[in-house]
Amino acid sequence: MRAIDIIRTKRDGQPLSPEAIQAFVSAAANGGWEDYQLTALLMAVWLRGMNPDETARFTKCMAESGKSYRWDDIPGPKVDKHSTGGVGDKTSLILAPLAACCGLVVPMMSGRGLGHSGGTLDKLEAIPGFRVGLSEDELRTALRTVGVGMIGQSAEVAPADRKLYMLRDATSTVESIPLITASILSKKLAEGIDSLVMDVKVGLGGFMKTLPDARALAKSIVSVGNANGVRTEAMITRMDAPLGRMVGNALEVQECIDALRGEAPVDITDLSVALAARMVEMGNKTDPAKALADVQKALKSGAGLEKFRKIIEQQGGDPRVIDDPKRLPQAPHRHILTANRPGVVHGLEAFNIGIAATMLGAGRAKAADHVDHAVGVRVLATVGSTVREGDGILEVHYSDPAKLKTALPLLEKAINIGDGNVTPENLVVEEIKP
Ligand code: URA
Repeated sequence: MRAIDIIRTKRDGQPLSPEAIQAFVSAAANGGWEDYQLTALLMAVWLRGMNPDETARFTKCMAESGKSYRWDDIPGPKVDKHSTGGVGDKTSLILAPLAACCGLVVPMMSGRGLGHSGGTLDKLEAIPGFRVGLSEDELRTALRTVGVGMIGQSAEVAPADRKLYMLRDATSTVESIPLITASILSKKLAEGIDSLVMDVKVGLGGFMKTLPDARALAKSIVSVGNANGVRTEAMITRMDAPLGRMVGNALEVQECIDALRGEAPVDITDLSVALAARMVEMGNKTDPAKALADVQKALKSGAGLEKFRKIIEQQGGDPRVIDDPKRLPQAPHRHILTANRPGVVHGLEAFNIGIAATMLGAGRAKAADHVDHAVGVRVLATVGSTVREGDGILEVHYSDPAKLKTALPLLEKAINIGDGNVTPENLVVEEIKP
């Protein structure tokens, strides 16, 4: 099939045939079309959309464009959680050990920080020695012995997505529900999982800023995941302020250890427990109350913390960070932003805090940038706190004074102090089932 005919079909708002979709995905993975033809079709999809059947077929072809893992030889339900990304979103490191304690096998393939949002791989690499580049054999051993393997996407997995994501990033075609659905799920289908819980973030610090957009993405992911044989459910969760109190790689690992000790803020702990419980409910086919009780037991007994220690050890990291978090990278300097008036913290804008953390070195502006695992931001006064003038609101952990200077205006802008009480809203906004 000729590229020009396929592009014209979508340009004119017609659905693409399965053969046309296969031709497009093969060209993205193996060459055969010029980049301008691939991007013309991406733009046509961005403008015209895809129907659910097209999106499901597109996702399947993308997943099959590369390697797929199979774990049939390992007993237990294979379940993962994936988030559309946020600021301070560290739930993976808390829920994976808890889910494994409840009998699940969690083959988790994650990404690096993107734009203002952090990435699980960068957080894990803050742990001295931790390796995210496991071979398939090493991953199999980790899943068999510990129940969790946390890895990055290798070049062999969904190569069509790798190519198309790069083109989307450069041509303003990222924010499209069929394209996002296929991109996320192609990698999840390749993981060899039976069930998936999607955490779709909504709000100022999320990919989707409004509830209707988040709902549309969640419904698309749930429908396409199930159409491709992976039981998929979604939770739409709020991302207006950072989750927990820590933003930045080593700081977030420290908060995960605190959470597994039962000593972290309630928002991050409750969300991680809720997501883990949903994984357990789907994987073990139990009722919601039993799934929640099992996860809470794993947390309260300390089993989750011990499992995290084993995961770190299994992947070459220094397990002593569990008892001595000072072994995590520490930034040499601190700067405190204080309240410029008395009042109540009405908002801590996640997007600006996320960008500021990236500017400090916690994330990358370009793929090749070096990440400084030690830097970040600690929230001293959460949304809803009453403060006096001069009270500390954000504590910046930094290495380079020049980077602090560029990040400070964004952090100042992120703080919103007003009059009158605010009650922090429930993080879980809605649940989407097939
Ligand atoms: N994450 C992905 O992997 N792909 C997208 O398109 C968006 C977020």
